[in-house]
Amino acid sequence: MPNTVNTDHFWMPFTANRQFKSRPRMLVSASGMYYKTDDGREILDGTAGLWCSNAGHCHPKIVAAIQKQAATMDFAPMFQMGHPLAFEAASALVSIAPEGLNRVFFCNDGSEAVDTALKIALAYHQVRGNGLRTRLIGRERGYHGVGFGGIAVGGIAGNRKNFGATLAGVDHLRHPLDISRNAFSRGLPEHGAEIADELEQRLLALHDPATVAAVIVEPLQGSTGVILPPKGYLQKLRAICDKHGILLIFDEVITGFGRLGASFAADYFGVVPDMICCAKGLTNAAVPMGAVIVRQDIHDAFMSASAENAIELAHGYTYTGHPLAAAAVIAAIDVYKGENLFDRAAAMAPYFEDAAHSLKGLPYVKDVRNLGLVCGIELEPIAGKPAARAFDVFLKCFWEQGVLIRTTGDIIALSPPLIIDKPQIDRVFGAIGDVLKAQHATGIGSSAVA
Ligand SMILES: Cc1ncc(COP(=O)(O)O)c(C=O)c1O
Repeated sequence: MPNTVNTDHFWMPFTANRQFKSRPRMLVSASGMYYKTDDGREILDGTAGLWCSNAGHCHPKIVAAIQKQAATMDFAPMFQMGHPLAFEAASALVSIAPEGLNRVFFCNDGSEAVDTALKIALAYHQVRGNGLRTRLIGRERGYHGVGFGGIAVGGIAGNRKNFGATLAGVDHLRHPLDISRNAFSRGLPEHGAEIADELEQRLLALHDPATVAAVIVEPLQGSTGVILPPKGYLQKLRAICDKHGILLIFDEVITGFGRLGASFAADYFGVVPDMICCAKGLTNAAVPMGAVIVRQDIHDAFMSASAENAIELAHGYTYTGHPLAAAAVIAAIDVYKGENLFDRAAAMAPYFEDAAHSLKGLPYVKDVRNLGLVCGIELEPIAGKPAARAFDVFLKCFWEQGVLIRTTGDIIALSPPLIIDKPQIDRVFGAIGDVLKAQHATGIGSSAVA
């Protein structure tokens, strides 16, 4: 039976509230690759929730770890106090992080991880006597969460326009999506590495490199529709930052924890940043948690800049290193390792790629792009109704096909749990294909307005 819950009071995030509440899409339980709805239907999860349940839902080991910790110690203050699990969780994270990134600052989500990393970058230059380095550089179409720091370096107009001037001293790189040259690329696009040169040729030339603290990018831009770095692009960014003493921050909130078939995108690309922001898969999304993984000498600069009894970084959250989240981190990383899930994702990626590109030639499919277990399918918009076509596909996949996909504008983004198998991959892409064919035959149906 559909749930009869009162939907009036919860103001939903990034949701068309009134549209949703007119026909709620309610999930009530989850296991492995599937959700269950309030009317008892199984929904195949093509998005790992929101790019986050990488080991599948309600993994028994993660559930047990959280349950045990909830009954042992619910909370412990972390300001001038500690509890062992937070330290163990940091060590577990370092055990899968790129070499040299071995100090961890915990927070509660991806937005806080971004703001934390930006603050560390600014303060790092300051404690080393480089007070001029206050500028931050992000990228067009970048998504770095919803804190003021994150929306400032982010590049999504809709997320910025209502909130004033955000941070001063921020500039943006051009994003590297170029469908005219790279449509239907399999894996990394061939063209566009030269766009990274604009960091030096335009932005640093304009601002002076000595004023720039950090560059922050998602190695693969997920939220704005799967924008892949062209071959050689990230290597160029790294080289320019090194040349000018600028910190490079990778926002790996969605690319971390096996999404590309390696622990982090940094490993996949062989490009090691100075800091990694992560969240989501950190706990397999079972408890909110974010983290910044920092190069040791950045951390050490803070230690040597202040007296031993001084607080070195005036930053932190009540829930930094929360016991339930720390227990979930340890269990999740144990599961990732024990079940070889990152290798599994790498092994499944070619099949996923073939299935994704089987949509080429279907009605309205303008581009397909993929890497690891991520795929973006860009559709022709309906004239005068941006986003309506993809949203209709989303609704029909949910109501008629029993498959959860995600859309942003007219782009479908897929990021299934790393445990997905071949028949499930076929089902996800088959559902999208069926809906597109039906759209072509009969137009956008009633579910678009329901
Ligand atoms: C790259 C990136 N950074 C930051 C965030 C923000 O994370 P959260 O929603 O946990 O604050 C997201 C969320 O999707 C993300 O994709």
